[in-house]
Amino acid sequence: MTLVNEPAATPIRLREYRRPAWTVDTVELDVDLGIDTTDVTSRLVLRRDPAQMLPLRLDGEGLELLAVVLDGRALDAKSYRHENNVLEVDGAHDGSVLETRVRIRPAANTALEGLYLSGSRETGFLLTQCEAEGFRHITFFPDRPDVLARYTVTLRADRARFPVLLAGGNPDGAGELVDGRHWARFVDPHPKPCYLFALVAGRLESIRRDYVTADGRAVELVMWSEAHVIDRCHYALDALERSMRWDERTYGRNYDLDVFHVVATHDFNMGAMENKGLNIFNAKYLLADPDSSTDEEYRAVEAVVAHEYFHNWSGNRVTCRDWFQLSLKEGLTVFREQQFSAEMNSLSLKRIEDVSLLRRTQFPEDAGPLAHPVRPAEYREINNFYTATVYEKGSELVRMIAGHLGEDGFRRGMDLYFERHDGRAATIEDFLAALGEANAIDLKSYLAWYAQSGTPRLHAKGEYDAAQREYTLTLSQQTRATPGQPEKVPLPIPVKLSLFDRGGKVLPLHVDGEAAETEKVLVLDKTSQRFVFREVDAPPVPSLLRGFSAPVVLEYDYTPEELALLLTHDADGFNRWEAGQQLAILAFDALQGTGESAACKAWCNALTALFENDAIDDALLADLLTPPGEIEFADRQGEVDPVKIHAQRQELQRRLAGRLGAPLLLDRYRALAADTDQKLDAASQAKRRLKRRVLELLALLEADQAHALAARQYGAASGMTDRLAALGVLVRGRASQAAAALADFRQRYADNPLALDKWFSVQAQVPGEPALAAVMALESDPAFTLKNPNRTRALFGAFASTNPSGFHRTDGAGYRLLAERLGQLDALNPQIAARLATAFNGWQRLEPVRREAARLALNGLSQREDLSANLSEIIGNVLQ
Ligand code: PHE
Ligand code: ZN
Repeated sequence: MTLVNEPAATPIRLREYRRPAWTVDTVELDVDLGIDTTDVTSRLVLRRDPAQMLPLRLDGEGLELLAVVLDGRALDAKSYRHENNVLEVDGAHDGSVLETRVRIRPAANTALEGLYLSGSRETGFLLTQCEAEGFRHITFFPDRPDVLARYTVTLRADRARFPVLLAGGNPDGAGELVDGRHWARFVDPHPKPCYLFALVAGRLESIRRDYVTADGRAVELVMWSEAHVIDRCHYALDALERSMRWDERTYGRNYDLDVFHVVATHDFNMGAMENKGLNIFNAKYLLADPDSSTDEEYRAVEAVVAHEYFHNWSGNRVTCRDWFQLSLKEGLTVFREQQFSAEMNSLSLKRIEDVSLLRRTQFPEDAGPLAHPVRPAEYREINNFYTATVYEKGSELVRMIAGHLGEDGFRRGMDLYFERHDGRAATIEDFLAALGEANAIDLKSYLAWYAQSGTPRLHAKGEYDAAQREYTLTLSQQTRATPGQPEKVPLPIPVKLSLFDRGGKVLPLHVDGEAAETEKVLVLDKTSQRFVFREVDAPPVPSLLRGFSAPVVLEYDYTPEELALLLTHDADGFNRWEAGQQLAILAFDALQGTGESAACKAWCNALTALFENDAIDDALLADLLTPPGEIEFADRQGEVDPVKIHAQRQELQRRLAGRLGAPLLLDRYRALAADTDQKLDAASQAKRRLKRRVLELLALLEADQAHALAARQYGAASGMTDRLAALGVLVRGRASQAAAALADFRQRYADNPLALDKWFSVQAQVPGEPALAAVMALESDPAFTLKNPNRTRALFGAFASTNPSGFHRTDGAGYRLLAERLGQLDALNPQIAARLATAFNGWQRLEPVRREAARLALNGLSQREDLSANLSEIIGNVLQ
């Protein structure tokens, strides 16, 4: 029994890294599969580090130990110790063969880590999840990513119950056994860390495609799912093929096994997992069809399929030395996926989407008690470090470095990185060294970005000297203290910029006698630096940080007119959107005052002009018409009142809608609605996106009319994008037609869990007062369960993390409900509980009444005696 508030074990520290005292050359696993009990026999050929001469110690958790055999001799209990999740074995030497036999219990595994059951006992299937430390729940092993071994896996099971048997690697025989059982063997020729091991067994259907890699290998691509959804795997299979071709073309990377399996499950803690040769996906990121998936979901499927496939090189062939280096594979792979998705879809839309995500998730993380560097210096529970910082900020760091090296230079560097570290476990230093050496550039200064937490503030100030015809830009940086890091160092910040004249024309840049271009990257690597542009005829308007060239908060004293000019004229699609966002922020801040502010006028007028301009892309226009989200507005305030922020943001949008006017909005809506086909091409998706935005704006102006249109759109919709958009307008607007639409949706998708998740979410996102009652009613829907992570996130994640005005009640009832459910959830699935608990991040900045209520709820939770290490780490950190 653990004591109250006992710290969850001592932290693991990067600077205490030691090479493994024992490694494993080959692994033979023999798995005798059953739903209630599965027996695992493992045979490890061991290698000892002669420099360390430490006893053989293997990780193992929740394993029932049946036998230990060393070099052919069965050991008695005196020759090994099995305590505190470690098995210590006496008498092993270099080259020893250790055999262990253990029993595990898949059906009882609700944490979804190790071997578990997806679906029901009768029809479900067995699968594994090993990253980060799940393999120790399957067998005894040095469970760390720098132990790379070759795997031979033999699966045995009842043929009728488990007709399909899969493991990573190439197939190496299969056959019958007595009593209706059968077996299948897989050999993986590539050494891999145990976190990339996977197996799947059950009744599954497949679709297949032959593929030949650029370097001539014939590969069979196979998507697996339960039979009734196999028709929804085709889009993912296409996306996989596109990803494979893209990685060949862009990075010269070819697939390296004869088969590539991808399996969909509805019971998964994360998005998907890159197990070698056997990717396992949360069904949410694999299944897609027009009737149950939105356009955004189609794009997410393509992105996640690509992400997991790209890991085959960035993560699997070159893996991480230890979990501190997690961003080495995740940041890099997110970056590669972002490049791919931008090319498949649209560069500026993808950039807008990714930067919005960064600001919504990573900036708040980096600004509060959960802040940590992209490469953390210590952790207690590694599963809590699969964060927006490691993934999204990590990708931004790779992007800065790639920008620094240029396209060809980055490719040269990546070639060297893959070649030099193939089959090995690497570090961030190795990555920077390879990229640098291939280009004869020292990239060490970027290490500080990996080590320092907090979002830097980039302050820019321009001064124009008419007599000298000079424009001086002074850039300075400052990063606020974060937990454990009171002092900050200056970082290299690439600032991509252009200058515009007051007529909106881009100007040639004359700096340091260099040839004139219209766009340039300045690198600020000190606390403050001045850059002088010559031959400037009039005070220019700078377009700074183009394409979001560094993950910082830009502070520049733009006037509303200057921002409106960039919003109208900037050719960089991202910066055009960004100018609109900044202008919306000025307009938002000015709402406090009386009358209409210059900022609000400028924002509304510029957007109205763009609205009337046919040349602009529909999807970009939809994004331009969307101000920053409530979380982004909250992030800028010292004392947060989420209900007030919601009201103010609504008011801002109402002003925009008012300026556009109902007739214009209606005309546009009708024109867009005339096109009802559900094609997936960019133009059709863009139309649906703009149609939704226009309807939302109209709802702020002419609610009854908009609700009537939404009800009609709901009824007539031939795809999920239009159907869900209409439902959202009805539910958020608390329209009289909402109940009927909700009832219809509930019934229509009763057997489609992914669609039903959206039904939960849309109601949990109703703003303000009614949200809590809605959430509580939804909890008693028979389809609700805390055992399924997607369902839990659909209800509680949507409520607590994406609906600030609903969750942050002054009476604290939202906090109490979440705290209570977290306690229950923690007993089932600590990883999901810990992740959901991050919704409390930022509570210290709430206004005093809510702050006190949040503190009480958090304190109560922290005093529970039975909290997992995962949840208590998050609660402990958040409370700091
Ligand atoms: N490595 C997975 C990815 O990002 C994420 C993951 C982590 C999945 C841990 C499961 C468990 O691609
Ligand atoms: Zn990943």
